[in-house]
Amino acid sequence: MLDKKGRCNMRKTALFLIYFILIFQQMLFCQNVVKLPRPSYKGTLSLEEVIFKRKSYRQYENRALSLEELSQLLWSCAGSGVDGVTGATRVFPSAGGIYPVDIYIAAGEVKTLMPGLYKYDYKDHLITLVGKEDVRKDLIAACYNQSWMGQAPVSFIFVGDPTKVSRRYSVRGESLYLPLDIGTSCQNLHLQAESLGLGTVMVGAFSDGEVKRILGLNKQRPFCVMPVGRPK
Ligand SMILES: Cc1cc2nc3c(=O)[nH]c(=O)nc-3n(C[C@H](O)[C@H](O)[C@H](O)COP(=O)(O)O)c2cc1C
Repeated sequence: MLDKKGRCNMRKTALFLIYFILIFQQMLFCQNVVKLPRPSYKGTLSLEEVIFKRKSYRQYENRALSLEELSQLLWSCAGSGVDGVTGATRVFPSAGGIYPVDIYIAAGEVKTLMPGLYKYDYKDHLITLVGKEDVRKDLIAACYNQSWMGQAPVSFIFVGDPTKVSRRYSVRGESLYLPLDIGTSCQNLHLQAESLGLGTVMVGAFSDGEVKRILGLNKQRPFCVMPVGRPK
């Protein structure tokens, strides 16, 4: 039997342990979740200039991207729009407002960011680490050895969930609406990269199975890979 002092000490120890576990959990969470800097809604070039200049780039300088640049790129292709607070509006259109699109990034050289595979969360504008490996080499192999991709510090992977669209729009949703949704998101990234003085290219030549394996996808299907870097 414990006396009053013993019970008090036990309670103190239990509280200390709970506190320690919470701090430890917080530390783990902090490493895996990266809150992104607020995106800017103003650029230096006009939309017309960006559209005119846009082209595909396949040669990049050996220089890291900043977290601000990554944040801006992610927001542009999948972030919240004007009324994003209510969850209604995104920066790209989607048939029936379903938004069956997710963006992953294979990050290699982004300043202050641990290399790895991340998934974008548009609601809180953050990325979550889903794999600690730098998968860019695996991605090149999955894209039938398009070796120039290795120069890019980061690659975006656009994935879509056909079941989400086919539930409402049947075969047409899956075969037409979903690729259209993804295309608009990809184009946003293309234009935003150009506007930031960066370069990208849409890569559609890849093994679906291999990209699915790298990303650990189940029902979702990869549609496009877009390496981004500073053009040479
Ligand atoms: C759906 C799609 C798939 C593409 N796949 C690849 C690819 O696998 N590899 C590549 O180097 N370029 C790829 N491209 C880029 C095209 O080759 C490029 O857009 C085209 O040559 C026109 O050049 P521009 O983008 O500079 O105007 C793809 C483009 C699209 C739209």
